[in-house]
Amino acid sequence: MSTPSPITEEAVARAVESALAAIGAVSDSASLKAARSAHAGEASALAQFNAQIRDLPGDQKAAAGKLVGQARARVNQAVAEAEERILVAEEQARLEAEAVDVTALPSRWNRGARHPLSLLMEEMSDLFVAMGWEIGEGPELEHEWFNFDALNFDEDHPARALQDTFFVEPAERHLVMRTHTSPVQIRSLLSRPLPVYVAAVGRVYRTDELDATHTPVFHQIEGIAIDKGLTMAHLRGTLEHLARAMFGEGAQIRLRPNYFPFTEPSAEMDVWQPNAKGGARWVEWGGCGMVNPNVLRSAGIDPDEYQGFAFGMGIERTLQFRNDMNDMRDMVEGDVRFSQQFGMVV
Ligand code: PHE
Repeated sequence: MSTPSPITEEAVARAVESALAAIGAVSDSASLKAARSAHAGEASALAQFNAQIRDLPGDQKAAAGKLVGQARARVNQAVAEAEERILVAEEQARLEAEAVDVTALPSRWNRGARHPLSLLMEEMSDLFVAMGWEIGEGPELEHEWFNFDALNFDEDHPARALQDTFFVEPAERHLVMRTHTSPVQIRSLLSRPLPVYVAAVGRVYRTDELDATHTPVFHQIEGIAIDKGLTMAHLRGTLEHLARAMFGEGAQIRLRPNYFPFTEPSAEMDVWQPNAKGGARWVEWGGCGMVNPNVLRSAGIDPDEYQGFAFGMGIERTLQFRNDMNDMRDMVEGDVRFSQQFGMVV
């Protein structure tokens, strides 16, 4: 520390002047802190003058004490004022920064929504998982063997043409866009140990024109159960459970004889909708039956030991009946306003 200068009126006045200048110039708490420590702190010129007083001859102490005391009081007063000034300024700045313009327009964006078909497929899958079934899968571009042959369609069975198949070139690769989810029956049987309880949902393709009741790409849910001693009663119970989950406790099902190469006996399944808009009615919902022994054989299963049932129905039709929708095109056009009506379920 430099040798202290003697306490003179000029020296004290200079110290006060430079202190006031420095304190007057501060603009925030940090610079105030620095100015306070330089001009009012232990090492400041005025503090040093104060320390020197006790070494002065007795007759000078009072005058020097008064001079330095007043000077320090002025500086402390200036620090207090600066503190107040900065506090107010900083508070003001904070309020401005946090200000909310309640008249400003909100920024809006559409969140989108999941497609009701996806939600329905998930709901149906969950129902089967809850019964202990597994979820199966298969490709949409499928080999003819899985789509037809293994399902007991003859080489030139009219059903191949009846199903309005999209055949995929080159023809010698025997690929089709699957016309139903039934090939997943075969894939499930070939990839799992018995017994098998599998449900599968997914897209299927047929050469239909898009109109109010047809679309060339649609969705099905398939079910196959193979175990010892399964009967048509198990099939009926399963479908009734599904129908009630989909259409309410009052829903009933009705089976009418039909033909599918992969089931025997086969049935068309109707569902009774007690709450339909135009009044209660029967609607055609899907196909089902006991798995044909030839199908079990193509999956290497002995039909004398194991039996089972299978069913398949359209997801679009289910949605249509459930929500009284007239035009299937709404389901494929992808307008988010359609999906949003079904809620924001995730
Ligand atoms: N796959 C048949 C169809 O698309 C439905 C079906 C599935 C029938 C399973 C019987 C058993 O029409």
